[in-house]
Amino acid sequence: MTAIIGRKELPGCQSTGDAGENERRKRMQINYNEQNRVFKIDTEHTSYCIGIVDEENFVGHIYYGRKLSDDNLVYLMRTAEPPFVPSKNNRDRNSFLDTFPMEYTGHGLGDFREGTLMVRTAGGHSGVSLSYISHRIYDGKEELAGLPATFGTADTCRTLELTCEDKVLGLQVILSYSIFADNDAIARSVRVVNGGKEALYLTKVLSACIDMDNEEYEMITLPGSWARERIIQTRPVLKGKQGVSSVRGESSHQEHPFMAWKRKTTTEEAGDIYAMNFVYSGNFMAQIEGDQFGSMRALMGIHPQDFCWKLEPGDAFQAPEVICVYSAEGIGGMSRTFHDLYRRHLIRGEYKDKKRPILINNWEATYFDFDTDKLLSIAREASALGIEMLVMDDGWFGCRNDDNSSLGDWQVNEAKLKGGLKYLVDEVNKLGMKFGIWLEPEMISPDSNLYREHPDWAFAIPGRTGSLSRNQYVLDLTRQEVRDCVYDMIASVLRSANIEYVKWDMNRQLSDMGSSGLPADRQGELFHRQVLAVYELQDRLTREFPHLLLENCSGGGARFDPGMLYYSPQIWCSDDTDAVERLSIQAGTAMVYPLSTMGAHVADCPNHTVGRNTPFETRGYVALAGTFGYELDVTKIPEADRAMIPAQTAMYHKYNDLVREGDYYRIAHYAENHYYDCYEVVAKDKSEALVTYVQVLNRPSHHSRRIRIPGLDLTAVYVIENAQDWPEIRQTEYRGDALQFAGINVPPLWGDFKGRLLHLVRK
Ligand code: GLA
Repeated sequence: MTAIIGRKELPGCQSTGDAGENERRKRMQINYNEQNRVFKIDTEHTSYCIGIVDEENFVGHIYYGRKLSDDNLVYLMRTAEPPFVPSKNNRDRNSFLDTFPMEYTGHGLGDFREGTLMVRTAGGHSGVSLSYISHRIYDGKEELAGLPATFGTADTCRTLELTCEDKVLGLQVILSYSIFADNDAIARSVRVVNGGKEALYLTKVLSACIDMDNEEYEMITLPGSWARERIIQTRPVLKGKQGVSSVRGESSHQEHPFMAWKRKTTTEEAGDIYAMNFVYSGNFMAQIEGDQFGSMRALMGIHPQDFCWKLEPGDAFQAPEVICVYSAEGIGGMSRTFHDLYRRHLIRGEYKDKKRPILINNWEATYFDFDTDKLLSIAREASALGIEMLVMDDGWFGCRNDDNSSLGDWQVNEAKLKGGLKYLVDEVNKLGMKFGIWLEPEMISPDSNLYREHPDWAFAIPGRTGSLSRNQYVLDLTRQEVRDCVYDMIASVLRSANIEYVKWDMNRQLSDMGSSGLPADRQGELFHRQVLAVYELQDRLTREFPHLLLENCSGGGARFDPGMLYYSPQIWCSDDTDAVERLSIQAGTAMVYPLSTMGAHVADCPNHTVGRNTPFETRGYVALAGTFGYELDVTKIPEADRAMIPAQTAMYHKYNDLVREGDYYRIAHYAENHYYDCYEVVAKDKSEALVTYVQVLNRPSHHSRRIRIPGLDLTAVYVIENAQDWPEIRQTEYRGDALQFAGINVPPLWGDFKGRLLHLVRK
């Protein structure tokens, strides 16, 4: 696989520090106290402490939480309590290993909690024990070969690398921790090097572990399904194992590579919360295990099921990055830390900090039934209404008139696109619009020329009937010749016309994992190699077409994860375009990801997923929380709706800088109160805020509803700038502290699914 793109080469990668040199250094310190053998990693508001103990140099986790002034914390590891350390009580070595708070675990020698690393020797033995041998602290952050990861310069970032070894195996494990001058997150990763003389088999390499006492925490995860992605779920952290995982070859609709744990008393705005998010797009596990003594172990990494990586002498395996966040400012504080980190240190490219063109996508408008004339008639109408880009979705290639054929045949269907692709794109450009296209490069239809020529290019287990899904197989991209062929096909389409946007789709999960390109003892590498191959392809694409706006997608939002955000600044959030359903989907997504990344469109009604009718205005307000666009046939919608589009597109232009760059606050969840939903985005300098209020179901009430509006300048006066949009709110001026602590009263709206925006501007 080729190395990943140099971060400095891509626009938008030079993260900015706004403070002076000293101030920046103060905000990110990593120190080693040789006397008590403690590493202390400090961000602006948090501390993370690691201790080295006993003659065998075990690496222990001491503390993660609010910033501390001192590192005198060795007592937290309880090494002066029974069963003591092995040098003092080797008869109970097992008990030590089973209770010591490990920073990164071994396996098979006495720690019976779920661990992070499993290694099998050529002789078939499984056992690992890690001891600290050295460390390195440096400015900046190194790239992770072949993987997406957060980035920073020497000015904005600092890294600790702890090298541990297992002498018996000749194995080195490098634990890496990077911190940022402008953010409280810690980016962790692990590299495993075979320094021995024989091949080793890695059967589990997770990326992060945090052992701590379980202070009756509650776990938050984001499970879902197709059209119902990332629904917020909370449960107690109990003894035993609780967690989420995917073995579907992608981060998935069903589970999400994120977990948080918080105190019961933690709210949106206050209290302790910890979180982990995996910068990876394939199989994962995220788990908290409550142990016998009231401690807990949080783990995250590549799922060990069907994973076995052969590591030859001298070779290294790089495990992907986990982002750890602690916030004392509640769930909202955690979300804002993730948002800022990803906007500044993960997302790259030309559109990183730019308003995205308002698009119209023809999927729900035409499905497969379109031709040049139909697309141009949509484009003509759309451009007159202020829409800026036409996206041609599935069905433009091969003989694809439904979803049964042609994936892999990335040649334009000229029967549909008369005059060819370039003609269509030029005509769209003449209207002053950009043009975008849909691709699904990872797949192959059995009914395709590509499959007829290369049946062995699909994953398959010899002797078994292949499991189709949406009548398609998965291409074996772990083979270089397959990657090259697919890349050449899609790149030549993109070179053939002025295509400025790609929707990169992936519409099935991975099964039948057998490759004719790898020997028997490497078949266990396939799931991970396939993810690396997708990263390599997207890396090549963004390198060759640096001005392209890439939007990832996977049957809606099955691959909405930080790994994909490294390549595309936005991801299609869900195939569910209903405004009410989207409230929950977008709230769950925004728990971790900035609004600038959420693909959100105004769609047709009755909605194609749930059959619901919602007002056109409300659909616009809800889509405003994301990248904004349309998913309908603009030539066919009711005239009254069409007439609203110019005002909606103007609204997007008015508010998008704020929505994209501001601080996000959840105010109320429809999923919890079954009545209304409310969220807010506040400008970083607190000069303005946009509150979106959606009353889902009306109830008989003469009373107005109190909502508190946080995050503002407490001493300033704010004016409702768009007071004419909600004239029933008679008072238009409020102090910041009144808005935050006392709130304002919003009157009930007549009918269901009604929405309003409140634009507050500092006087
Ligand atoms: C997936 C996407 C949709 C659409 C279809 C086309 O389901 O999520 O938006 O592109 O594929 O087949």
